[in-house]
Amino acid sequence: MTLVNHSDETLLPNEWPGSYFMGEEEVDTVTKVLMARSPFRFYGHDLQHYADQVEDHFRQRLGRKNAVLVNSGTGALSTAMLAADVGPGDEVLVPGYMWVACISSVIRAGAIPRLVEINDTFTMDPDDLERKISPRTKAVLLVHMSGACGDVERIAAICKRHNVLLIEDVAQANGARFHGKPLGSFGDIGIFSFQYNKNMTAGEGGMVVSDDDLLGKKAWAYHDLGYARNAAGRLEPDGAVQTWGQGLRMSEISAAVLHAQAQKLDLITATMRARNQQLYAGIGQIPGVKPRRVIDPAGDSGPFVIFTWPTGEICAEIVERTRAAGVKPGPMGVGNIRMTDWGLHIYYNNVSLVEKRGINSAGRPWSDPLNSFHTEISYHKGALPQMDDLIERSCLIPVPPSLTEAATNRIIDIYQQCARQIGLG
Ligand SMILES: Cc1ncc(COP(=O)(O)O)c(C=O)c1O
Repeated sequence: MTLVNHSDETLLPNEWPGSYFMGEEEVDTVTKVLMARSPFRFYGHDLQHYADQVEDHFRQRLGRKNAVLVNSGTGALSTAMLAADVGPGDEVLVPGYMWVACISSVIRAGAIPRLVEINDTFTMDPDDLERKISPRTKAVLLVHMSGACGDVERIAAICKRHNVLLIEDVAQANGARFHGKPLGSFGDIGIFSFQYNKNMTAGEGGMVVSDDDLLGKKAWAYHDLGYARNAAGRLEPDGAVQTWGQGLRMSEISAAVLHAQAQKLDLITATMRARNQQLYAGIGQIPGVKPRRVIDPAGDSGPFVIFTWPTGEICAEIVERTRAAGVKPGPMGVGNIRMTDWGLHIYYNNVSLVEKRGINSAGRPWSDPLNSFHTEISYHKGALPQMDDLIERSCLIPVPPSLTEAATNRIIDIYQQCARQIGLG
């Protein structure tokens, strides 16, 4: 095979999982909502109850008692923090590899995020969690990053031992499993995102799941008006949960899209997983490279692969060469990048966090006297040396759902050839 240098070819087409699989099913359900002139989930001329049905679907799929759809994954995280009673004086433990919303939800709740290392799973390192968990810890946010699970069994056991709530963030790994059990079924609370680039999508959307009835009722009240609702969707005051709501409801139009997408989730993840495993097997043969340690490969939802190289310089070089040879995304996409360039997924790229920006001119939550302990915490690069080293040496390649077996082989060939050119193998 001849390498094409500085090719215009893009081997990573701009396709995102859920939207690639959109079709007549979504058109049909959305049309039903519009023809019924009932786009609001709690009442309408001829309510189609798509939001109720999607919640039922996920309750069953995840084996959870409570589920509430919200307008985004960020809204789901905010709702989860309020339901978990996170506030001033509290710390929430968050991995350094996450998404900005994982931090902003803690800050907006008035609490302080404390960063935890990641290990070669690219998710929270349970050993560092053990070191950092303290009487101030109100909750642990385990983020199942880049499609695959964190060490959820061990982390759940640590949280239980310390009597701390576990929130699972499944935004990037909907449909993924840990040894057969779906992610989002382990923590006290699980949150999901249905934003455009997620495994299933309505453009925007999110969900909060739980088993505990009080947590479930609180999530219902907080995502809405601050009051509980009964099964018929009518407000039903309940002193145990009554408070202030956030207006994060999902519309029936989005729920109609999700109703169709939910039926396709396993097909979508299986499609990506096949290419994901092909890439791990092929690129993983290069001497010196280390594929991400995926705890349960059969449960990986598939949208990304990650490889760690012997040094940061080698990683930068291989990314540059493979991109020049065509392993690059189309104009809208991001991908085949060194992970230091992965934007707001990396703690030190979050300038507002590094600078400890407040949510108002009074500088809250940092200025709150109950949070004065934050002065011991730095978010600058160097705060997580183990993660910093991993991220410097690792590259991330997206797995578009439209990637063919042949194109995947070509990506592998290009990687192998570029590795040989720089003396690996
Ligand atoms: C890990 C993680 N959590 C939360 C979110 C927030 O989801 P949304 O974009 O729907 O607000 C995202 C979005 O990318 C994410 O990747």
